[in-house]
Amino acid sequence: MCGIVGFTGHHQAAPILLDGLRKLEYRGYDSAGIAVRNGSESAEVVKAIGKLANLIEKTNDGRDLVGNCGIGHTRWATHGEPTKINAHPHVSGNCKNSGSGVVESNVVGVHNGIIENYQEIKAKLLSHGYVFYSGTDTEVAIKLIDYYYKKYGIGPIDALARTMVRIRGSYALAVMFKDYPGEIYVARKDSPMIIGVKDGETFLASDVPAILNHTRSVYYIGNLEMGRLIPGEAHFYDLNGEEIPKEISEITYSAEAAEKGGFQHFMMKEIHEQPKVLKDTIHSIVDGEKINICLSPDELKSFEQIFIVACGSAYHCGVTAQYVIEDMAGLPVRVELASEFRYRNLPIPKGSLCIVISQSGETADSLAALRKIKEEGVPTLAVVNVVGSSIAREADNVVYIKAGPEISVATTKAYNCQLVTLYLIAIEMAFARGRIDSAEKEALLSDIETIPEKVDSILEQQERLQWFASKLINAKDIFFIGRGLDYSICLEGSLKMKEISYIHSEAYAAGELKHGTISLIEDGRLVIGVLTQPELYEKTLSNMVEAKSRGAYLMAVTNYGNYNIEDSTDFVVYIPKCNKYFSASLAIIPLQLLAYYTAVSRGEDVDKPRNLAKSVTVE
Ligand code: G6P
Repeated sequence: MCGIVGFTGHHQAAPILLDGLRKLEYRGYDSAGIAVRNGSESAEVVKAIGKLANLIEKTNDGRDLVGNCGIGHTRWATHGEPTKINAHPHVSGNCKNSGSGVVESNVVGVHNGIIENYQEIKAKLLSHGYVFYSGTDTEVAIKLIDYYYKKYGIGPIDALARTMVRIRGSYALAVMFKDYPGEIYVARKDSPMIIGVKDGETFLASDVPAILNHTRSVYYIGNLEMGRLIPGEAHFYDLNGEEIPKEISEITYSAEAAEKGGFQHFMMKEIHEQPKVLKDTIHSIVDGEKINICLSPDELKSFEQIFIVACGSAYHCGVTAQYVIEDMAGLPVRVELASEFRYRNLPIPKGSLCIVISQSGETADSLAALRKIKEEGVPTLAVVNVVGSSIAREADNVVYIKAGPEISVATTKAYNCQLVTLYLIAIEMAFARGRIDSAEKEALLSDIETIPEKVDSILEQQERLQWFASKLINAKDIFFIGRGLDYSICLEGSLKMKEISYIHSEAYAAGELKHGTISLIEDGRLVIGVLTQPELYEKTLSNMVEAKSRGAYLMAVTNYGNYNIEDSTDFVVYIPKCNKYFSASLAIIPLQLLAYYTAVSRGEDVDKPRNLAKSVTVE
């Protein structure tokens, strides 16, 4: 999704803006641009389509742009093609030269999000003589700000407030007004934005890594709030233009944590960070025998049904949690895709708890689903990685995972931290409901404590997986099959494979093969079976053998000890024995490595797969 940055201070702005945009590349984009002002001179805009490297080259790494105040943007096209004219920043006046060069406009701005009613506003502005050069909703928003600014002769904050009342949708907006040199004005609704300050300098960005090289002191700007940024200071306002006092928060993780740390790709670094971040997550939630998940034993006892709502890998984590909670805590669980749930009228019975899982805490569909659930008066619990994100702030309760910044678009460590958090929630529910006693709870907690070191030991098999992956360079289709909890692991393993290697892959409940899918099996087709659940081992194995007898090539991921599997399969990865409820955290490791090495051997852009974004902040 789009990323925005801004800077005002005593240094040259453009190199700082470009550095910030580099840190936001992981969000996905197809064009980029910056606007810089030198004192009271007009802003100079430079845009380039494609990789950020093009913009960097065009501006001589920012050195050619003089000025200490500026804004920047990486655009992920939603309204209007990924062209130079549609790239941000956008201006309130007319534009020549595809929007690049010195602009005489009153207002210049960048925007992350979507303005839903932009057509209607555009019609209004056309009738007032505005001329539009791009196909973007952002240009409409910038011109609307200009319209109010001029019509009422009001200040920037009032013009922004009027605009915010008029537009529908989501936005993180950063604008510069010609009459206010050295100042940046921001507004936010449902799109992420943070403000960083240090002596004489102020930064804004869509995400923390973009400013960490400069400062760790940040303000979280709330929903429907605005800000005025001047060198070294930020002031915040509500829709009435009243100033809102805000506390500075300190970011505790290091800038290096957001860098590659010696690995070729962020994804590999993040796969290897799993033992550490799993330990951090467990220890932040478990204190002796206490599991801190924000809900009291009485509340936990009172729930009769659990709804889990999420997208992507977070949804897969929910599917795993469904098996664990149902079996361990004896509660019915429904897992829903947030994008479907938000438009359905699914009756949620009284006595339900709704768990929203989201790494970023900003996924538009998950946020919308959370709001819908809250309107029904159903208690909500969010499992989130990014502190201060929208979902974390709006849910009734939040449990943070401790994955740290995850840069690779394909999630690995955050997914696994979400899993262990959900296991802990399941244990606490089971205990509160009397399904397990103290001794059983203690035993389960001891099992969870062993997950990080077991993950570490699986990582030692990476060379075997690299070797096996090298055989998949020309693969066309891969099928992942499993039953029960193993099926949920297949969903995630298959997503990892397809999203970064671009090899078509599907996950099937193994028992469903005979109902159609088996007709797709032909000579040499790779079928990967996941067999970690003892009671389902024989069943899945026999489904694999059925596929083999039709020509499939078989890989298996199973527990140490199941050595007879070598009689029927071609390649086996063993995972250490663990409590059956927690096997997803281990079995996913070889599948993450397989996807990674397959993508690398095919020469794909592992950390930034085509068409994908890390944080999907639009529908
Ligand atoms: C994107 C990411 C996935 C993630 C999904 C949900 O598709 O690429 O890795 O699982 O969004 O994101 P969330 O931040 O809500 O967990």
